[in-house]
Formats: sequence, C-alpha cells, structure tokens
Amino acid sequence: MSDEKVVETFDRWAEEGRDKGMEEGHGDVVRQVIERMGIRAGERILDLGCGNGWATRLLAQTEAGVQAIGVDASPKMIAKADELHSFTIRSRYDWGSFENLEFKDAEFDRIFSMEALYYAKDLDKAISEAFRVLKPGGKSDVLVDYYHESEASAPWAEIMELDLHRLDEAGWRAAFERAGFTGVTTERVIDSRGFSAEGCDECSPDVEAKRKLHEAGTLWIHAEKA
Ligand SMILES: C[S@@+](CC[C@H](N)C(=O)[O-])C[C@H]1O[C@@H](n2cnc3c(N)ncnc32)[C@H](O)[C@@H]1O
Repeated sequence: MSDEKVVETFDRWAEEGRDKGMEEGHGDVVRQVIERMGIRAGERILDLGCGNGWATRLLAQTEAGVQAIGVDASPKMIAKADELHSFTIRSRYDWGSFENLEFKDAEFDRIFSMEALYYAKDLDKAISEAFRVLKPGGKSDVLVDYYHESEASAPWAEIMELDLHRLDEAGWRAAFERAGFTGVTTERVIDSRGFSAEGCDECSPDVEAKRKLHEAGTLWIHAEKA
C-alpha cells in the first residue's frame, strides 16, 4: 500500500506538469548511470516510481530486445506515461505500489529506480519486493537525492509534508542487505552539466541550497541477488 498523501502529491505534480521538470533535473545523472549499468540485450527491467516513464523509455532503448516496465502509485503519472508512450519502444507502465508488486517471483533481470524509494510507506517491504521479483543473478540500481549526507535535502519532508525515509549511505546499504541483497555498494553521481542556479523550487528554494544539492550529488545504491 502506498501512502495516500504521496499519491495526492504526485497526482498534483502531474497535473502541474512537474513531471517534465523531474525529467530535465534528473536526466543527466540517470543517463550516466544507465551507461554504466551494463544492460544486455533482451533483459527485462522494472523501473520503480517511473513518474511519466521517461527513464523507463530510456532503459528500453539501451539494447536490442530490452523490455522495461514502469510502476507508479500515482494514476495521473501513469496516465502521463501512457500519453508519452511510443509504440516503437518496448515499455509499459503499470499503476501499483512498491510494497505489493503485482509480478511473479524472479520475473526481472534488473530493478531501476530514480528518486522514488524513500517515499515508500514501508521501505523494508519495498526493498524485499524488489528482491523477490528479481531473478537470481539480477541487479538493482537505485538512485536517491534525499539522504543524510546531502544536508540541503534535510528540509524536504517538512516542505512536502510527507513522511520520508532519511537514511545515510550506510543505512541504505544495510537496508538492501537486510532484504537479502549482496554486493551492495554506494557511490555519489554528480550532474555533469555542472551547477545551475536555474529552476529553484520549494525543495531547493535558494541558489545556495541548489549548489549544495549539486555538490552532494545523487546517491547510487547498487545491489545484487546471488
Ligand atoms: C520524485 S518522483 C520521481 C519520478 C521519476 N522516477 C523521475 O525521476 O521523474 C517519485 C515517484 O515515485 C512514486 N511513488 C512514491 N511512492 C510510491 C510507492 N509506494 N509505490 C509506487 N510509486 C510510488 C510517485 O508517485 C512519484 O511518481
């Protein structure tokens, strides 16, 4: 079950067109990570918290025969993803929650997620579900901008009036290990376009906060299912 307030928030963001802003803001880091993931032809990838599905479509276009499925709890984000869908791309978008994925065990080669997992109502359940739907030998690559070492992200829960999971790097690694993942590593990914003062919003209200968010970077948690 996803949190109703989270769903309301992202339905509103979809109505306000803020899905496009996320695509623009997260695009460079996601492209850097996808480039390094080593995706192979024919893999099946699940994108958790896909928003309007832009990263799902990128994943689906990496190699021949790759199939990517995005899941999101916000019906309005899923409607956007369906609108933006191209029938020449092997992707699909399902309405659903991280905590109760409607997939059989071991259906996917990879889990991907950008800026979404810390909104989970039950983070341990969400990571366990990701583990369950992965095949043995499968890999998970989760990205978050909201983590303890990124100090400028600290006010986000209060600003958004949501209960968010604020873990530090070691805490993220431990959460994946608790779910059964091995080979868990973290690294920071910095937007290669450099710092830009453009596009301040309530989560980066001033130029200094934006600069600090840029310098801290996005936390990439990589994990494997033995
Ligand atoms: C900050 S947005 C990121 C969207 C997209 N990954 C991007 O980078 O543009 C987080 C997304 O996660 C979704 N989400 C949050 N909690 C969820 C849950 N428990 N189950 C499924 N989706 C959830 C939200 O609806 C929202 O679309």
